[in-house]
Amino acid sequence: MDVRINKLRAKFDELGVDAFLSNRLSNIQYLCGYTGSAGLLFVTRDKAFFLTDFRYKEQVTRQVKGAESIIITKSFPDEFANNEKLKFKGKIGIEAVFMTVDLLTKMQESLPGCEWVNTDNIVEEVASVKDEDELDKIRKAVKITDDVFAEVLELVKPGIREIDIAAEIIYRHMKHGATGNSFDSIIASGVNGSLPHAGASEKEVEAGDFITFDMGCMYQGYASDMTRTVVVGQPTTKQKEIYGIVYDAQQAALDAAKANMSGMALDKIARDVIVKAGYGEYYGHGLGHGLGIEVHAHPRASHIVDHPLLAGQVITIEPGIYIPGWGGVRIEDDVILTETGNIDITGTTRELIVVEW
Ligand code: GLY
Ligand code: MN
Ligand code: MN
Repeated sequence: MDVRINKLRAKFDELGVDAFLSNRLSNIQYLCGYTGSAGLLFVTRDKAFFLTDFRYKEQVTRQVKGAESIIITKSFPDEFANNEKLKFKGKIGIEAVFMTVDLLTKMQESLPGCEWVNTDNIVEEVASVKDEDELDKIRKAVKITDDVFAEVLELVKPGIREIDIAAEIIYRHMKHGATGNSFDSIIASGVNGSLPHAGASEKEVEAGDFITFDMGCMYQGYASDMTRTVVVGQPTTKQKEIYGIVYDAQQAALDAAKANMSGMALDKIARDVIVKAGYGEYYGHGLGHGLGIEVHAHPRASHIVDHPLLAGQVITIEPGIYIPGWGGVRIEDDVILTETGNIDITGTTRELIVVEW
C-alpha cells in the first residue's frame, strides 16, 4: 500500500500541493486497504493518517497498511483541530467531486491558514492501471457472473417475473463467493428494454420478448459488469437486425481497443457502426467505462469526455440500441487493455441466445 500512497505523493508537485485529503471511500480502499463505510485519509509528503470511528477500531488493525490509524471520538474536523499529529499548514488537495461543502467548511476552520486545492481523478487515474493481483480478482468476479448467467438462463420462461430473475442473480452471486452484486441487476424484458437502466420490475416475461440482463458482482473488492440480450423463442427479422447491428458495433470496438488510443476514438468506432445503420438517435450513452473497486471507474470511453486509454486498465465495451415502445439490445464485455490490443475476459457467448422452454 506504501507503493500506492507513494504514487499519489509523486503527483504532489504537478498538483502544487503539500498534502492530499481523500474522502472517497473507494480511493481510500485503493490507497490503504480499508473497506469500511466511514473514513478520511490524509497524506502528507512524509506521513499518512487514516481516520475512522469506534465501529472500525478492530477492522483497521486487520486492513489498514501504509497509514497510521486514528480512531476519532467526535468528528473528523474536531480531530484535525485537536490532535497534535494532524497539525498542518500548506496546500491540501481535495477531491472536488466528492468533498462536501459541510466538511470543507469545517476543515477550513480546523486547519486555519491552509490553501485547499480542487483536484479531479488523481487517485482514480493511478488506480485505473491494475496489478496482477487486481486483475486476478476481476477475472474471478467476471467468471462468477458468467457462471451465474448460465444458471439463471435455465430458469427463464414465459411467466417468470423480471424481479424473480434479479433475486436469483444476487443469491447465486453470493453462493459463488461474491460479497454481493456490483449494482442492482437490470432485467429488462420486452418494451422495458428501451430503458438503458431499467431495473427489474414485476413484469412477467412473455414469449417473443427480448430480455436484457445487465449484471455484475463484487469479488474480494473488485467488480464485474456484463450485459447480454436474449430472445424468448425464435427472433423476428427486426430483432435479428437490431441485435446484429449492436453485435457488429461491439465487435468493431473489440477489434480496435488497445492502450495508447483515446477513449473518444474507441467510442467513435462503435458509434459509427450504429449511426451508419440508421440507429444513431437510439444510442445516447458512452461506449464503456473503467472497472475496478467501483463498477463505474476511470477511464471512460465516451463521446462526451476524452480519456487516454492505458495498458493494464480494465474497461467495458457496451454499445446498445434503445427504441421506445419496442425494446432494446445491449451487449457488454469486460476487457483488459494491452499495448497491442485487449483481452476479452467475459466468457459468455456474444451470439444471440434463443431461450426455449
Ligand atoms: N450496469 C451499468 C453499466 O453497464 O454501466
Ligand atoms: Mn453493465
Ligand atoms: Mn457497464
